Amino acid sequence: MSTYGFIGTGNMAQAMMKGLLRQGVPAKDIHITSPRSAEKLAAELGVVAMSPESLVAASDLVVLAFLPNQLEKIVQPLNLQDKLVVSVLAGVTLETLSAATKSTQIVRTLPNVNVAINQGVIAYASTVLSATHEKVFQQFADSLGHHFDVSESQFATFSAVAGSGPAYVFKFIAALAQAGTQNGLEATLATKIATQTVLGSAEMLKQSDLTAQALQNAVASPGGSTRAGLDDFDTQNFDAVVAHAILATIKHKHL
Ligand SMILES: NC(=O)c1ccc[n+]([C@@H]2O[C@H](COP(=O)([O-])OP(=O)(O)OC[C@H]3O[C@@H](n4cnc5c(N)ncnc54)[C@H](OP(=O)(O)O)[C@@H]3O)[C@@H](O)[C@H]2O)c1
Repeated sequence: MSTYGFIGTGNMAQAMMKGLLRQGVPAKDIHITSPRSAEKLAAELGVVAMSPESLVAASDLVVLAFLPNQLEKIVQPLNLQDKLVVSVLAGVTLETLSAATKSTQIVRTLPNVNVAINQGVIAYASTVLSATHEKVFQQFADSLGHHFDVSESQFATFSAVAGSGPAYVFKFIAALAQAGTQNGLEATLATKIATQTVLGSAEMLKQSDLTAQALQNAVASPGGSTRAGLDDFDTQNFDAVVAHAILATIKHKHL
């Protein structure tokens, strides 16, 4: 079993740690460091707080999980040269990571928040990894969900669809539940129904050979009530609304 070190213990690091712990990684194999929160978090989760230098020495895989503008300052004093370094720093390229860390074994990732329940979607791009480091990274990523080898030029789009995507799916669930409430369902029940409907439909799509488009048509018989609803979505330009929001997300990420 590999050991994992997190430099930075904020929202994303905690989501990843929760996923690893849920997956059965022993808490003693998770090392953390940060100036203010690490000790308290270690007491809460049972993971091990240590100095950055000790963490680098004790960890097979080192996750950079602080804010992007802190990169130089934090890694400069550390000896990361032969280390497997996994960055979650948004917008920081492999080239910049290589120059700052001096490591040749780097994986740039973009995880989404669902890593906390081992259902994450993670984009990654890497330098050429040794066979051992490749195995360690694959095991780490498998523990957190599904990972996709994506060219760095596509990270911004991936980030809009998968990184921000959970917020948009929550928005759809809230809207579906609210529409149910407006038409007579009790609010808590409406939320449960909408949530399970989205979960079951995603699972149905995943297990099916059909496309999402074909499955829409399979649910909607001609002249039926679902067809009336789908036609109304089209009249309201639902697809264009989604495309517009994704573009707004991508443009903002480029700022
Ligand atoms: N949140 C997301 O959904 C998300 C998604 C994709 C990518 N990311 C990326 O993940 C990274 C972290 O984001 P976040 O949302 O988790 O940030 P965050 O909650 O603000 O956490 C930042 C962390 O950096 C730590 N830190 C500050 N100075 C440090 C130092 N000198 N050495 C070590 N650690 C230090 C802080 O420690 P203290 O608490 O001790 O001050 C804190 O734990 C960012 O680069 C972001 O681009 C985040």
